[in-house]
Amino acid sequence: MAATTESQARRLMARLDALAAFTDDPPRLTRLCLSQSHRRAAEQFIAWAKESGLSAHIDPVGNVRARYEGRRPDAPALMIGSHIDTVRDAGRYDGALGALAALSVVEGLAAQGRRLDVAIEIVAFGDEEGVRFPRTLTGSRGLVGVNDPQALEQKDADGVAMRDALKAFGGDPDRLGAARAEGVAAFVELHIEQGPVLEAEGRALGIVTAINGATRLDAVVTGSAGHAGASPMDLRRDALAAAAEMVLAIETRARAEPELVATVGRLDVEPGAVNVIPGRVRFTIDARASLDEPRRCAVADIAGAMQAIARRREVRLELTQTYAEAAYICHPTIVAGLAAAVAAIGADPRLLPSGAGHDTMVMGQRWPAGMLFVRCKGGVSHNPAESITEDDCAIALAALTRFVEDFRPS
Ligand code: GLV
Ligand code: MN
Ligand code: MN
Repeated sequence: MAATTESQARRLMARLDALAAFTDDPPRLTRLCLSQSHRRAAEQFIAWAKESGLSAHIDPVGNVRARYEGRRPDAPALMIGSHIDTVRDAGRYDGALGALAALSVVEGLAAQGRRLDVAIEIVAFGDEEGVRFPRTLTGSRGLVGVNDPQALEQKDADGVAMRDALKAFGGDPDRLGAARAEGVAAFVELHIEQGPVLEAEGRALGIVTAINGATRLDAVVTGSAGHAGASPMDLRRDALAAAAEMVLAIETRARAEPELVATVGRLDVEPGAVNVIPGRVRFTIDARASLDEPRRCAVADIAGAMQAIARRREVRLELTQTYAEAAYICHPTIVAGLAAAVAAIGADPRLLPSGAGHDTMVMGQRWPAGMLFVRCKGGVSHNPAESITEDDCAIALAALTRFVEDFRPS
């Protein structure tokens, strides 16, 4: 690896550590969409971009955008980047790696005084995880121009509307349409794999062929709260016991379908006391698959099974779909371009699908889009143990730089 790429990788790893300090919940890394720590991370990102001579700003929908001009002002730009929001108790590489790598690639070109034919647009999306507000990917939807204005009215667990959070963040909820990007030729995202395949095969990089579609639902089970000592077992309407049965029904249905995964990741019990039968339980469901039809069928089956459990246990079930995104087949020209770039730096282009969701699946609705994956330790992600090596980071930067240099708008 060239010495410049190695020093770029060292600086990128240091920036990833620095960005991880922006958290709402120290010492854990929790940087939810449009939170104060997200705002401070966005400001830091802008400061780094400006240090490199780029113009950078927060757009109306809460993305950080920066631009490195090309030689041909009329040519559509190549957009690269990823997200800087995180899950709760996150690792430091999911999203941040790709956002900061975009900056590194441009800094590498700028340091050599190189301009490409096309401009490079850098984006640090703000809403990829969907942990704070149920509808997600509003940053990329804003660029594509398909945001539903109703998304602004959704509230977080504290009752804060996305509209107010966006305003406080520095976005402009009244001008969402102005976030729509024009003059873009293609989008590419670098991201950690978040799975074990590359490590198992001893490879640093992978090229994504397709991204799983996903459905998310909110379930609210209402039974009857009561005295834990005085209520006989056969006269209870225990919302948590009903929810527990539903969670297992979800797991059973997902296990029955190859390539379908389903998760209950959050469950809130009310009133939540040792001596009170739970009266109300709210939980989330996240179902994903590489093919849309089996996912839709499974979600319908899950809803049916949950209703049957609710009827039998005489509890009420309200089920609301909060999010659905179709699977995305990465654009063949981007897949081919990334494969060529990986081969050009002497690595073997390994194609693989993505089980995780990404802004790329929305960007691909309007522009040719694709992704480059970097190996992560043990395939662990959404976990503070997330880890990558500086060597892999250098290899990824070399491949992404090569892709950018060779990119020609079609
Ligand atoms: C984002 O990480 C997701 O796939 O949920
Ligand atoms: Mn991510
Ligand atoms: Mn994630």
